[in-house]
Amino acid sequence: MERRRLGRTGIAVPVIGTGTRRGFDVKDRRGLSRCTDLAGEAIDQGAELFDTSPMYGEAERVLARSLGERRDRALVATKVWARTRAVGEAQIEQALADFGRVDLYFVHNLLAFRDHKPLLDSLVERGRAGAVGGSHYLPSGIPEVRDLVAEGAIAAAEVPYHPLAKDAEAELFPEAAANDAGIVVMQPFGGGRLLENPPSEGALARLRPFGIETWPQAILKWILSDPRVCAVIPGTSKREHLRENAAAGGPPWLDDDERAYIADLAAQCVR
Ligand SMILES: NC(=O)c1ccc[n+]([C@@H]2O[C@H](COP(=O)([O-])OP(=O)(O)OC[C@H]3O[C@@H](n4cnc5c(N)ncnc54)[C@H](OP(=O)(O)O)[C@@H]3O)[C@@H](O)[C@H]2O)c1
Repeated sequence: MERRRLGRTGIAVPVIGTGTRRGFDVKDRRGLSRCTDLAGEAIDQGAELFDTSPMYGEAERVLARSLGERRDRALVATKVWARTRAVGEAQIEQALADFGRVDLYFVHNLLAFRDHKPLLDSLVERGRAGAVGGSHYLPSGIPEVRDLVAEGAIAAAEVPYHPLAKDAEAELFPEAAANDAGIVVMQPFGGGRLLENPPSEGALARLRPFGIETWPQAILKWILSDPRVCAVIPGTSKREHLRENAAAGGPPWLDDDERAYIADLAAQCVR
């Protein structure tokens, strides 16, 4: 698994991480056992950058329990998602109790960003967090993320980016590069939409020299072939999908022609 430096945070992140939004939102013992296996597989595959949030139901707590004593072998990105400072403080206290330390602390959808920022900065100063970032899941939120990057208020940004959602490329990536902010890509498969009608094996044959065997791998390689992207965090509930995704985390990266070819295939997938 290739690792990239997450901008000025200095954190060396695996290019493929693990999203927890749906896969880790479980309530029963069976679900917890599956997540424990999934977390172990992610660590074994080198995809140990876990992304979670108090917005994802049980996922944040389940991730903490799934990691257990393996916490030190993982990088944890979580978020504060609260309209008020008081609710945010309670969330942060809980996350620190669960994880001990948070490697990347995002403000989810930049909700009440200025209210949460002083506490997050103080966590970084005290070594309880590695860096402060901002996330937004909507293209319309990207300008606000960009402005915070330009101001130097966040060292990392988490946004969507795939062949059919390219707003971040022009609106955020140049500013992130200029300010040495790291980019983490969420929802690489459009929440699963891009995988519903995958291209035929024949259509993928041309991509084999790039180490691509499957359509999810083609999309992940498309995203990571922009060197300004530091990591992508696909969500999955299945070990075999996690392994398949992790296998896309290394060179050779794609050239412009192959990226254009994949973008055409993606457009056909959702017609
Ligand atoms: N900050 C924010 O506002 C925000 C918002 C959304 C998401 N996120 C983060 O981004 C992560 C990823 O987003 P997401 O989970 O919503 O969407 P996603 O990664 O675009 O897609 C997830 C879907 O793809 C499927 N999948 C994954 N790998 C596959 C494979 N190799 N083959 C076939 N199907 C595959 C999963 O199904 P299976 O379970 O069957 O594998 C799941 O249905 C989240 O988990 C979360 O950590 C952040």
